[in-house]
Amino acid sequence: MQDLQTLEKEISANIEAAVDIDSLEDIRISELGKKGRVSLLMRELGTMTPEEKKAFGPKLNALKNGLNNAIQDRKNILEAEILNIKLLSESLDISLSSATEDAGSIHPISQVMDEVTEIFTEMGFSVAEGPEIENDFYNFTALNIPEEHPARQMHDTFYFPKDEEGNRKVLRTHTSPMQIRTMMEGEPPYRIIAPGRTYRNDSDATHTPMFHQVEALVIDKSIHMGHLKWCIEEFSRKFFEIDDVKIRFRPSYFPFTEPSAEVDIGCSFKNGEVLIGEGDDWLEIMGCGMVNEKVLENVNLDPKEYQGFAFGMGLDRISMLKWGIPDLRDFFAADLRWLKHYGFQALDIPSLSTRSSTIKGSK
Ligand code: DAH
Repeated sequence: MQDLQTLEKEISANIEAAVDIDSLEDIRISELGKKGRVSLLMRELGTMTPEEKKAFGPKLNALKNGLNNAIQDRKNILEAEILNIKLLSESLDISLSSATEDAGSIHPISQVMDEVTEIFTEMGFSVAEGPEIENDFYNFTALNIPEEHPARQMHDTFYFPKDEEGNRKVLRTHTSPMQIRTMMEGEPPYRIIAPGRTYRNDSDATHTPMFHQVEALVIDKSIHMGHLKWCIEEFSRKFFEIDDVKIRFRPSYFPFTEPSAEVDIGCSFKNGEVLIGEGDDWLEIMGCGMVNEKVLENVNLDPKEYQGFAFGMGLDRISMLKWGIPDLRDFFAADLRWLKHYGFQALDIPSLSTRSSTIKGSK
């Protein structure tokens, strides 16, 4: 019979020396497992005399229990170590600086929309918003452009398929239908602007299928062309930030105004750049006129009682002029480098979406 004390010392030392759970398990199997040294000793008990059993049995049991406990203790220590290592290696290093957030910039068109809105609301205009998918009636007929009228060909219209009643909707070709919507919904006097997206089937350096306009409508009992002229000059001074900006009214034709004019702004072209407020060249920025009597009749206003002016301005065009952006298509190319260069920091102007609108949605 082996000296139990020596055996215990030997196995205990091995347990203490076990560096990981696997080698500890190997020790348990080789000492306490079925064929382990301690188990074999336990089996020998069966061959002993009752006296020997009495003397040897409790010692052997104590040895077995002691070793089991020692293995469990060592196991706890090793597991705690593993946990520690894991905690150390997986802990969050909060001293790391966070990834910097890329602040976006405001698209020049959005900026212009806000600036234009700001200028006109200061003059007492309110903002009207309406649908981009328009009825033929609002986009054309009510604006004195009946079906088959040659003026319809002035617009390269995107048409929707005809519905069951033979009506077809259009992507609005201008913001002028907002004149009709405004006058059909409310009561005069009117003083509104309607900024928004417009669509025409056209694409080159100065045309994109989607572009932006702002419409203006002023109707009251004694509005005349002098008001229109002042309004446009005042706007141009403020928008281009040039006090002696030159403005020219050229006679023109629009079905919804009579008389009609196109408005040019004085500029010069130098080294492929447009400079506003100097030189002898002209650039067209809008169409305008006195609202045609037929349009007033179409919305049940008496032309003998009410009259007024309207204008429609290309927002993309005036953005190109203000910041010398040569190609219209760049506005919509979604190139981040371009946006970083031409974009704006947020200004403290409430954006359109937060303004109250006089008209929302389609009828
Ligand atoms: N709707 C016209 C266009 O898109 C622009 C326009 C011209 C609007 C004259 C007006 C106006 O209100 O009076 O070409």
